[in-house]
Amino acid sequence: MILSNISLVNFKNYDQIEIAVSPFVNCFLGKNGMGKTNLLDGIYYLSNCKSFFNSVDSQNIKNEEDFFVIQGEFDNSESTENIYCGVKRGKKKVFKKGKKEYEKLSEHIGLINTVLISPMDTNLIYEGSETRRKFIDLIISQYDKEYLQTLIQYNKVLNHRNAYLKSIQQGGKFDALSLQIWDEQLIKFGEIIFSKRNEFIAEFQVVFQEIYNTISGGNENCELSYKSQLVDSDFQELLNSSLSKEKYIGYTTKGIHKDDFVFEIEEKPLKKFGSQGQQKTFLIALKLAQFKHIESKTDSKPILLLDDIYDKLDEHRIAHLMNEICKGTYGQVFITDTNTKRLPAYFKKKKYECFAFEIEQGELLTN
Ligand SMILES: Nc1ncnc2c1ncn2[C@@H]1O[C@H](COP(=O)(O)OP(=O)(O)OP(=O)(O)O)[C@@H](O)[C@H]1O
Ligand SMILES: [Mg+2]
Repeated sequence: MILSNISLVNFKNYDQIEIAVSPFVNCFLGKNGMGKTNLLDGIYYLSNCKSFFNSVDSQNIKNEEDFFVIQGEFDNSESTENIYCGVKRGKKKVFKKGKKEYEKLSEHIGLINTVLISPMDTNLIYEGSETRRKFIDLIISQYDKEYLQTLIQYNKVLNHRNAYLKSIQQGGKFDALSLQIWDEQLIKFGEIIFSKRNEFIAEFQVVFQEIYNTISGGNENCELSYKSQLVDSDFQELLNSSLSKEKYIGYTTKGIHKDDFVFEIEEKPLKKFGSQGQQKTFLIALKLAQFKHIESKTDSKPILLLDDIYDKLDEHRIAHLMNEICKGTYGQVFITDTNTKRLPAYFKKKKYECFAFEIEQGELLTN
């Protein structure tokens, strides 16, 4: 899907803005704090039903206002879709395709895919396993509806099981049959997710390695692998062996909600042993592999959102990425830059179509 038009009302630092964008490259230019990243986040919202940066919807409403609305018009070869996202303080978020409101937000995931490269990506290295699981879950959900539904069901069952264990911890009567019902479902959904994550990582690793080698010149050995308690053990046996402990602590300690994705350089943790440049390269390769993987699975290019790449990449890597953009490898692209001249001059020299939008205090200066 290609974005042709986006409008924001009361979204973060925007009162009201409407932009007709290019199907090729779009640059959001301006000084710090003007609203460039907020525009990328508006596009991300229309794709993922939430902000990349702030998961509390109401905090994305412009200060002092009561609601925000983001609307986007997306085209592909067959149709045009109007997507609407409205958030009002104290009310449920409204998300619509055309005139029809989604009953569940998960139904929308996969219609419009985006890949965002942001300085915040370092969280993938420095934060706990949940951040990495969410990243991988989002990639798979962008092309596999069954995966997302199974994950939602797994989490529901996990919450029930945890509530049951909590009641036991607090002195409730233990009933093996009740637990067995939750265990059976947890195992059923958990094994589907385990198998799909395994399948994913096997394919994704190859694409990731290729991109990492291209960017780094092939002199480093980086690894991305999947770590799960289910690799060596049967799920039911894991649950059985930890039951006495879980009755005491009141929650489930085994399962795919404990999985992790391990990042290594020269067989050591990237977090501790990777240089800043190597970490940056790893993150860029992860995101570009996300792009390629989704493209191969869906037969269409996600929208690429590049936030502050000059801050993130060295000249050689920027040149490589920009070359690919000018070859059309990445389809529709949105890039932010604090330098208002650099990107337009670059694309002009390359004779590549680019729309430049200058942003000042949440307003559009030029078009
Ligand atoms: N809910 C909100 N209401 C009003 N303003 C907000 C809200 N949330 C964020 N902002 C404002 O948005 C501005 C930041 O916008 P954004 O992150 O898009 O800037 P930017 O142009 O990308 O800057 P930089 O070049 O520093 O990355 C800040 O001034 C911030 O205070
Ligand atoms: Mg920014």
